[in-house]
Amino acid sequence: MTGPRHIGVCYYPEHWPEAGWAEDARRMAETGLTRVRIGEFAWSRLEPDPGRFDFGWLDRAIETLAAAGLGIVLGTPTATPPRWMLDRHPDMLAVDRDGRPRGFGSRRHYCFSHEGYRAEGVRITRALAERYGRHPAVVAWQTDNEYGCHDTAVSYSHAARKGFRRWLASRYGSVADLNAAWGTVFWSMEYRSFEDIELPHATVTEANPAHWLAFRRYSSDQVAAFNRVQVDMLREHAPGVPILHNYMGGETGFDHFDLGADLDGASWDVYPLGYLEVGLPGGRVETRDFMRQGDPDFQAFHHDLYRAVGRGRWWIMELQPGPVNWAPYNPVPLPGMSRAWALEAFAHGAETVCWFRWRQAPFAQEQMHAGLLRPDGQPAPALAEARRVADDLATLAAAAPVVGASRADVALLFDYPSIWATEIQPQSRGFDTIQLLLDAYRALRRRGLSVDILGPTAESLSGYRAVLAPGLIVWTEVWRNLIATADGPVLLGPRTGAKTPELSIPAGLPPDCPALIDLTVARVESLRPDAGVPLAGGGTIRHWREFVEPGAGVATVLACEDGTPALLTAGAVSYLAGWPDAVAFDRVLDAVLPIRPGDLADLPDGIRTRRMGGLQVLINYGSSPVDLTGRLADRDWVLGGPHLAPADVAAFRR
Ligand code: GAL
Repeated sequence: MTGPRHIGVCYYPEHWPEAGWAEDARRMAETGLTRVRIGEFAWSRLEPDPGRFDFGWLDRAIETLAAAGLGIVLGTPTATPPRWMLDRHPDMLAVDRDGRPRGFGSRRHYCFSHEGYRAEGVRITRALAERYGRHPAVVAWQTDNEYGCHDTAVSYSHAARKGFRRWLASRYGSVADLNAAWGTVFWSMEYRSFEDIELPHATVTEANPAHWLAFRRYSSDQVAAFNRVQVDMLREHAPGVPILHNYMGGETGFDHFDLGADLDGASWDVYPLGYLEVGLPGGRVETRDFMRQGDPDFQAFHHDLYRAVGRGRWWIMELQPGPVNWAPYNPVPLPGMSRAWALEAFAHGAETVCWFRWRQAPFAQEQMHAGLLRPDGQPAPALAEARRVADDLATLAAAAPVVGASRADVALLFDYPSIWATEIQPQSRGFDTIQLLLDAYRALRRRGLSVDILGPTAESLSGYRAVLAPGLIVWTEVWRNLIATADGPVLLGPRTGAKTPELSIPAGLPPDCPALIDLTVARVESLRPDAGVPLAGGGTIRHWREFVEPGAGVATVLACEDGTPALLTAGAVSYLAGWPDAVAFDRVLDAVLPIRPGDLADLPDGIRTRRMGGLQVLINYGSSPVDLTGRLADRDWVLGGPHLAPADVAAFRR
């Protein structure tokens, strides 16, 4: 991306007296904000009674914001169906795993499978799109809000059961084929009709994993289908205007690559301190170290993931400005940290970063959630940080004509069905595939490398200096073909190619990629947290270990102290037979990917770096100052310099 960068804010005009809107808009512009997202929860004000629309207030809000020079991002309000919707569709509520309807009184209380509600979503989208689709100030659309938030991607409703049976019939064709694919002969689970098949939640002990995987695929498809009908409506009435959705961190309820294929880019909501405290998949355990900064790799990992989901185009739709309200503990960020998070996103190629929210609301659920302004309208600390980011962007743009992420050194492969596979059948408490990927990502970043995370939609791996595919469990033709395009070293395992798309063990045993490397994972074991296996020469294999039988031409490069091979190599392809700790991961990378970008490798703890067009950006996530004069003194610094205080950002010309 080479276009101009924007900063913006989420604003709820319906929360504030109209007399104050113009002053709010003026102050936004004065802060350097050029984007404002509105409308995504306003259904009860847009349609106070069924079929009776009130767009007057939104017309005036849009005019007021546009008059201050702000580009509007307009949300469809389908995450918050008003109370009257339940009178029209009493069975539209999602149902939780225990069979309880998820009642009215907060948000996201709908079931994605409910066709009546899906049509209501299209109806309100049509009304908005007809009215504002060609409005010159509406520069982008957001569908719904955070699909999957509050554990809502999966629902066990009647609508879901009906839809699932139909989906199964179309996927498998005949119930005999389904029985064969799932192995239902086991425990006499054989079905005689698709109508016999229930949702997999109410069984005595675990349901068939293939049944679960099918249901996860089905549920993901419903999220994508729900989104698609809104997108189709928007495209008709708002031609050429980008349509986005705001994803979350660590959300695995649906395949973002599938959903993202219908959109013009990705966006995600970045709450580094909240994510740290709730311990999301992949979240760090040592929360105290980074309690005011957030995990130093979690944001970057998702930036790189969603850049792929957005096919190169991505935004932050919501950025944490201060304490949130929803984590167990809600500390204030380090001074300057909100600025650092924003600049980090731009370094990873973001087009736009919006803070959530303009003014802290004094009422309702999120009254303890900070904004750029306090509830009394006085500036909160992040307002000045947003202003500073506006100035930083001008500085960076002047220094390098092309700002935006550049192609990275290394590709890391990411697959939602593989994550579902380990969620369904972990075989080890806490086996978290996102954590495994993040461990690989952290190891690459410790070497100063920039990473592209790629999904099954990637066209080629050619040109990457290395490709990593740990935890790519569910092995398909797509992955086989993609990996065949790699022209650098490839690191597979652990658990790569361990299952078929129907969640069975492949006939020839894992890894199911004999064309890549000739070895067999004969046995596996999972390890309790206090029982790692030491690697000869340093480092430990934790959580997961595989016992591999190497074929012809496969050499053992690293072994455990007990002699079992841990890393095996044949030519350009290597296989990692366990989950390494940080020391072991560094040794694995030393052995198979001997690339280090000179003076950026092994930067002091807390420093993270990313290539941004012609610039190299550095961020201090640590809580102590860092002096890089020793190794980077003679660089051409365009932002900051080699002394980085905590939360500082610096950039030099490459
Ligand atoms: C997000 C959500 C926003 C707001 C925010 C608070 O998950 O999209 O509407 O609730 O969290 O941090």
